[in-house]
Amino acid sequence: MQPQPQPHPREHQLADHLESILLSEGQIRARIAELAAEIEANESTRPDLTLLVLLHGSLLFAADLMRALSLPLYLESFRVASYHGGTSSSGELTMDPQSLSALRGRHVLVVDDILDTGRTLAAVTRVLREEAGAASVTSCVLLDKRVARAVEFEADYVGFPIGDAFVVGYGLDYDGRYRNLPYIATLKPEAIGGGE
Ligand code: XMP
Repeated sequence: MQPQPQPHPREHQLADHLESILLSEGQIRARIAELAAEIEANESTRPDLTLLVLLHGSLLFAADLMRALSLPLYLESFRVASYHGGTSSSGELTMDPQSLSALRGRHVLVVDDILDTGRTLAAVTRVLREEAGAASVTSCVLLDKRVARAVEFEADYVGFPIGDAFVVGYGLDYDGRYRNLPYIATLKPEAIGGGE
């Protein structure tokens, strides 16, 4: 009898955790090309455009988006944390005030992974305008969970509107894991809340 191919341990582990793939690598790649074209058309008149990447969630999205843009960009990043091991926004925002000084007088395009309650981007854009003294502020998100909005906020550029599912992959995590997946997926209920 022929030996059966064994699943790679990582695949096996992931298959136990993931419910379904919501957005494939190909879908993400194609949409990023469209977003980049939109951004280039609108933002090329703003001199010294600065991409402000909100870490860690936007790491993969920003890396792909910036390579698709042929504008002479500046890059800044800072870390914001609104989830602390759960699946709903705590509303708590941690920002490094020192990183803000680099943005004075700059035209800033904030890049975020997902717009959910809207608290993070509403707070970040307010700080950029009122405290950092940015010349202008626009925002670009890969995902927009419109139904979950708690504060009024719309992004200028949206990759994909999605429903109210908790998603992981392509930079998005659950309790620190799954950021490395090259696609966006939903988790099995047993993978949320401590189950392995
Ligand atoms: P708010 O609620 O402030 O949320 O708009 C923005 C941040 O919350 C995180 N977030 C998620 N992370 N899966 C995740 O892995 C999700 O479905 C999700 N929804 C919100 C994310 O860090 C985002 O920047």
